[in-house]
Amino acid sequence: ELGNYRHFMQKEIHEQPRAIADTLLAAVTTSSVSPGIFGPGAEDILRAVNGVRILACGTSYHAAKVAEYWMESLTGLPCRAEIASEYRYRDSVADPDTLIVTISQSGETRDTIDAMIQAKNLGHKYSLAICNVPESALVRTADLKFLTRAGPEIGVASTKAFTTQLVALFLLTLVLGRLRGKISDQQEKVWLEQLRELPGLVQQALALEPQIAAWAEHFADKHHALFLGRGVHYPIAMEGALKLKEISYIHAEAYPAGELKHGPLALVDKDMPVVAVAPNDILLEKLKSNLQEVRARGGELYVFADLDSHFTPQEGLHLLRLPTNAGPLSPIVHTVPLQILAYHAALCKGTDVDKPRNLAKSVTVE
Ligand code: M6R
Repeated sequence: ELGNYRHFMQKEIHEQPRAIADTLLAAVTTSSVSPGIFGPGAEDILRAVNGVRILACGTSYHAAKVAEYWMESLTGLPCRAEIASEYRYRDSVADPDTLIVTISQSGETRDTIDAMIQAKNLGHKYSLAICNVPESALVRTADLKFLTRAGPEIGVASTKAFTTQLVALFLLTLVLGRLRGKISDQQEKVWLEQLRELPGLVQQALALEPQIAAWAEHFADKHHALFLGRGVHYPIAMEGALKLKEISYIHAEAYPAGELKHGPLALVDKDMPVVAVAPNDILLEKLKSNLQEVRARGGELYVFADLDSHFTPQEGLHLLRLPTNAGPLSPIVHTVPLQILAYHAALCKGTDVDKPRNLAKSVTVE
């Protein structure tokens, strides 16, 4: 089943162009995305909602965090992403018309299922599950559903499930934006075209594997790493840090780069590699000045940029470029090199990549 791959994680990373294409194929056939992709009655429900609350755990929570940025900027709806295990036990203020979205690869994560039940008990009228497993408990509990087409994910570290969740969330953003008159026909067409190009962009990101593998060797003897991003790429930094810690056992933390001088800069020295997600967006110049602060303290920088941005070469700055800027879909493309970095760091350390210690693929108990 592994073919030419050494681990399921590596295979699943490389399956992403196919997984994304399949997820799109099932949903996008015309020049517009139909609300019906979320199930019968979805159009009326999605028209009625006045906000979105997304509940999930782990990697799926990071997908929720990306959606928070997309939703508020592209649909105008207030959106909040929350860790399911926190939400389920706290006193939250429920607005019945706020759509509850749960995200889960397995659909069997106890905290996520119970968070959705809790939301219903609190009076939320509408729920949507984004899930990779059709017959799962989560899918059965939700009113609306969207199935990602990642195919079975065996590696404990979630990879292709994450990028297909992001595709699903972008489709939801498109549908909500259209229904609310915030996204024009023209704009929708442009983004649908970009979605169709996405598998190709991910393929080009995968081609960076040899260079990233060489970088990974610098991480193997490190005890800590810092991941930085800004805006919609901050959750991608969080995902990169989670991948690294779960399979290589290197302690990794993610920070929005603007927070550096509010604390984490104190940690930076030559033994603290700093990974930056640095796409060519409106925050790039700000991010670059944050990165200078890291260099000034001797931190080694590993920067993932886009093809069309300028970085002045300097000692201690390692730079790789992704093929092009993918616009709002950039977080999806920028995820891929971080998965590859974690994978190769784990290979260097000789850990059990597909079954990291202490972890299970599905967390069906709390
Ligand atoms: O099946 P789920 O998406 O609900 O799982 C949630 C988390 O347990 C999962 O994403 C976990 O964080 C992964 N091991 C991360 O790679």
